[in-house]
Amino acid sequence: MAQIGYNETVMDHFMNPRNVGVIENPDGYGKVGNPVCGDLMEIFINVKDERISDIKFRTFGCGSAIAVSSMVTEMAKGKSLDEAAKITRDDVAGELGGLPPQKLHCSNLGADALHAAIKDYWVKTGKISPKEAEAEEGAQEEEQEGE
Ligand code: FES
Repeated sequence: MAQIGYNETVMDHFMNPRNVGVIENPDGYGKVGNPVCGDLMEIFINVKDERISDIKFRTFGCGSAIAVSSMVTEMAKGKSLDEAAKITRDDVAGELGGLPPQKLHCSNLGADALHAAIKDYWVKTGKISPKEAEAEEGAQEEEQEGE
């Protein structure tokens, strides 16, 4: 039943998610909730030489959200913070080979949680102010409502 509309890559990342877990005292931490369904995703990163040296996630959400979390952590691992910050929700959905249209909102969480974790690190290290972190977050929101 869970396979309806999901391709093999999505199923693989859902059944065998990569980078599941928590990093104690992470360098950066992001938590986002999905306003559409109320699901929750957390991403933890450690940073070394301005690169994501370790990344883990914890997601209370649907199968797509888990697959998205797994994929986004794989995509971000080892990347520089600047590169990882450019990963978009479309990139994640694309790497997964697409998601069913009614599940596309689930892929927002991955990129948003990753960006939140990176910004948390940047705020902690003084690269950006908390205000700047919030401003950019708002600009990313493109929820399709009323469908
Ligand atoms: Fe909630 Fe997918 S239904 S994240």
